[in-house]
Amino acid sequence: MAGVIIVGAQWGDEGKGKVVDIYTDEADYVVRYAGGPNAGHTLVVNGEKVVVRLVPSGILRRDAICVLGQGTVVDPKVLVGELDTLDARGLSPRDRMKVAERAHVILAYHILVDGLREATSAAIGTTKRGVGPCYEDKAARRGIRLRDFRSRVDLEARVSRALEAWGPTIVALGGTVPTVEAVVDDAWDAGQNLLPLLADTAALTEAALKARKRVLFEGAQGTLLDIDHGTYPYVTSSSAIAGGACTGVGIGPSRIDAVVGLAKAYCTRVGGGPFPTELEGPVADRIRTIGAEFGSVTGRPRRVGWVDLPALRYAVRLNGLDSIALTKLDVLAGLETIRACVAYDTPNGRTRDFPADDLEACTPVYQDFPGFSQDVSNAKHLDELPKEARDFVRFIESEVECPLSIVSIGPGREQTIILSHPLRPE
Ligand code: IMP
Repeated sequence: MAGVIIVGAQWGDEGKGKVVDIYTDEADYVVRYAGGPNAGHTLVVNGEKVVVRLVPSGILRRDAICVLGQGTVVDPKVLVGELDTLDARGLSPRDRMKVAERAHVILAYHILVDGLREATSAAIGTTKRGVGPCYEDKAARRGIRLRDFRSRVDLEARVSRALEAWGPTIVALGGTVPTVEAVVDDAWDAGQNLLPLLADTAALTEAALKARKRVLFEGAQGTLLDIDHGTYPYVTSSSAIAGGACTGVGIGPSRIDAVVGLAKAYCTRVGGGPFPTELEGPVADRIRTIGAEFGSVTGRPRRVGWVDLPALRYAVRLNGLDSIALTKLDVLAGLETIRACVAYDTPNGRTRDFPADDLEACTPVYQDFPGFSQDVSNAKHLDELPKEARDFVRFIESEVECPLSIVSIGPGREQTIILSHPLRPE
């Protein structure tokens, strides 16, 4: 298999960093296709934790080429900061990093607007990294792209046009409109620093696929945060689903050989919006603490809840999932009962589908499972798991009609049961 997409099947934070890191062993390229510094992965570099928001997790493998496609939005200062941090730890990331010259740029006014809006009653709980306003500029055809950093005069003219458009909004939200000079000064050095990394990444990725290189397309956020198919308006502003890899990188759908969806054995969500299986109280606190469910970008405690199988079925369908990597099963150890939402009661009767736009009017229908008390984090095979844990994961698999390819049972690389591997020959 040459082209494989890894996509979040829930509301993000499904453990993509770890699974991409495992698959990257066999990958020649790791390509991010959507989102920006709103994502976050914690990497362990020489025993030290480093949080990266833009650099793909594949950077840890010294021979993988890492790419940010043009569907991503790049904050130059954040990216340069990450590259410098990784450089200082001896990874030489600039030798292996390519960034789409057509990727749109997050500038100071995007972050300003995102923050001002989040202080109003219209807040949806964004990460306040300027991601939404940057994608707005892209759609409004007044965005700034990384390639625009090649000429300061042109960049200033573009920023001036963008500020004319944003000015009234900033003032209405109680902010102060920055000067063109201040905006350009703020980002200029970082933009210059990135120029040597810029490339036509669509052509580069296609050439890699043609040469039968193994390319991993790394999604950001998750299916239920997708701009078109998520729980709108409580979504991010990009195409997080697998289809986004084609538009976000610039390759045709025929180049994709497999799609792997990531899902936790429970659910989490950060920010506002409906979350029907949400838990509160001691069980929620326990899952949050054991699962370390705090945002890696914002530090916000994540909302937690039971696994939502109608939502997972929806993700299987929207992404055309070939398999599911189920993560964080170990976090459920020690609970007396584990629940799975199997359907919804709606005003029109019971459904096994995910009513993405009408969740407020729906009640989850649960199936209960006996918990398992043993530590599962050292199992090497599925049959080494306690029967209760095995029954639970096999139930998920059969309910969503999609085979499991990975069951992750701890944060370590070795704490992973690999059932099938999309990049390894059969
Ligand atoms: P934005 O992407 O910062 O505009 O935020 C929009 C919504 O997506 C908010 O609910 C965020 O909490 C959520 N979101 C954005 N990025 C991530 C992520 O990487 N993990 C989980 N939620 C995210």
